[in-house]
Amino acid sequence: MDKTNYKPATLVVHQGTDRDPFTGAATVPIYQASTYHHPDGQPGEFDYARSGNPSRQQVEDAVALLEGGTHGFAYASGMAAIGSALALLKSGDHLIVPEDLYGGSYRYLTRLIPDLGIDVTFTDFGDLNKISAAINDRTRGIFIETPSNPQFQVTDIRGIVAIARENDILTFLDNTFMTPLLQRPLELGVDVSIHSATKFLGGHSDILAGVNVTKDPVLAKKMRRFQNGFGAVLSPFDCFLLSRGLKTLKVRLEAAQQSADELADRLADHPAISRIIYPGRDDFPQKKLHFSQASGPGAVLSFELKDKDKVNSLLETIKLPIIAPSLGGVESILTHCWSMSHAAMPAEVKNRLGIGEGLLRLSVGIEDVDDLWEDLDAALP
Ligand SMILES: Cc1ncc(COP(=O)(O)O)c(C=O)c1O
Repeated sequence: MDKTNYKPATLVVHQGTDRDPFTGAATVPIYQASTYHHPDGQPGEFDYARSGNPSRQQVEDAVALLEGGTHGFAYASGMAAIGSALALLKSGDHLIVPEDLYGGSYRYLTRLIPDLGIDVTFTDFGDLNKISAAINDRTRGIFIETPSNPQFQVTDIRGIVAIARENDILTFLDNTFMTPLLQRPLELGVDVSIHSATKFLGGHSDILAGVNVTKDPVLAKKMRRFQNGFGAVLSPFDCFLLSRGLKTLKVRLEAAQQSADELADRLADHPAISRIIYPGRDDFPQKKLHFSQASGPGAVLSFELKDKDKVNSLLETIKLPIIAPSLGGVESILTHCWSMSHAAMPAEVKNRLGIGEGLLRLSVGIEDVDDLWEDLDAALP
């Protein structure tokens, strides 16, 4: 059977390669070697680990298959994946990006990429007309993050792809929050799907990793060249951990999503909370759009305390979640967006976007939901 026909539950377990071709071992070993013998002076399939190695190949194929792509590229972090995807642009090009996005991407797009000679326009991705209006004759890329972070602004992927194709512009989508199990950007016409695999794909808060996937052979060739030339590759050990994490992605994500759904409802009824943002709730304004392009709400939600001065006591009291700027682990992770994930964003931008000091993001883990609620309820003012 062609592996592309397998259902997700089978694909995450068996992946592209599910056993060592040489020994039959149940996992592909960690090929901890920097270089590979050249028999008779000629390179074999692998010659030097930066260019490629069996551990990386295994996990790149696995994520590519899951995303419905043909080529995957694994990097040392999600930011390395974003930077490597955007390296498809060159000096003199123009890129359009959303205002509401992950703080590290904001830092890269405001402080680093302009120095490479690429102009960046931030605009409101809730309005396709604003995106069209931002296009100029140098526009070569549109970068999407949907749902955005931490406000869960949903972008119309099909709408943007249509605009981009009309204007010969590449589309990039950060799919970290949804994973290929809930949202399939390449099938919606996006050129490059990007992941911080540090999050749900790895799933255990024990690696930093990034993966890009495309099904365009021309883009794949360019990304391969950049990956080898720039060298921000994922190590063999981390490739192994990522492949192992992927095997439980479906069960982890489904369990966490179910608990997130339940916690969102309980939080919404809590008197200390002024706002809850979760795509699964009926009061989520863009629910219809989200579910027209994704099959689930995900396992991350945001909530805002009525009294922002109570954030510190909540963070001091709560026991179960790790308090940290991350998400997607088996353990719940609570983030104070203002001071952690979005620390790189100036206060005035955060305030304009509604990322207030009382806003918290909860990445729900796979603990028992009643324990999570008891803990939250006790810590809330
Ligand atoms: C949506 C999103 N994209 C990209 C990144 C960057 O990933 P990494 O920390 O693996 O470099 C993050 C990290 O939090 C993220 O949340």
